Amino acid sequence: MTDVRRSALSLRAAMLLCVVGALAACSRPGGTTTPTATGAPSASATVTPSPTPSPSPTFDKLAHPLDDPTSIWVVVNKTFPLNPADWVPPDLVAMPGIPEGAKYQLRAPAADALTRLSDAAAAAGAGFKITSAYRSYTYQKGLYDPRARDRGVAVADRTTARPGYSEHQTGLATDIYDTVACRLQECFGGTAAGTFVVAHAWEYGFVIRYPQDKEGVTGYVWEPWHLRYVGTELAKAMHDSGAATLEEFFGLPPAPDYPPDPGA
Ligand code: DAL
Ligand code: ZN
Repeated sequence: MTDVRRSALSLRAAMLLCVVGALAACSRPGGTTTPTATGAPSASATVTPSPTPSPSPTFDKLAHPLDDPTSIWVVVNKTFPLNPADWVPPDLVAMPGIPEGAKYQLRAPAADALTRLSDAAAAAGAGFKITSAYRSYTYQKGLYDPRARDRGVAVADRTTARPGYSEHQTGLATDIYDTVACRLQECFGGTAAGTFVVAHAWEYGFVIRYPQDKEGVTGYVWEPWHLRYVGTELAKAMHDSGAATLEEFFGLPPAPDYPPDPGA
């Protein structure tokens, strides 16, 4: 069995274990098991009530697959690569209605939702521009390899996904900016657009995928500019639940690092 295939099966198994009743096996990374099926496995978990409001009890966490790249809920992180690694979305479209968006593509539902989010942001005086969206396996390799070579693998891995492991390859993720000075910088979070998307992105089906202080869960430093489309149902459920990451919401293991290379 290939590593990618094994990872996909592990993702399904991890999710089923945590969502379908085996709550004792699922806890937040801090080690406290909640009755809301959010969190990650922990051997020494204790059961205590969740301090955050739960999503609607009717929300179906199995409604869309997490391991299928065509699914708007697909989870891609350092543990779960795209499968196949060179997958290309079938429905990429440009976004001419967004400043600088004509140069970039997302999958059609994400492009439509981002255009509506952009319109709302502009109307609120918090307009943004696009600086990245879909990236192919080859494009991502062209970003990652020089960074790893110049800065070292450990540094590169905190900010840039290896090819085959980037959410940008799903066609569901985009990087936005407000001022040039804060483009791809933490200070984007303090700009008008950065503040607007924290408050409103979920209403359009987006989550801020790499939140502050969640590197131990997502594997990446805070990226207030990186939006991931998951659809309005899931974005609302995550917003209502207080879960900050897809891993925590679905009860998947944290993914701070790549698995060790068996050939190394
Ligand atoms: N910056 C994000 C993690 C990526 O390279 O996909
Ligand atoms: Zn990004």
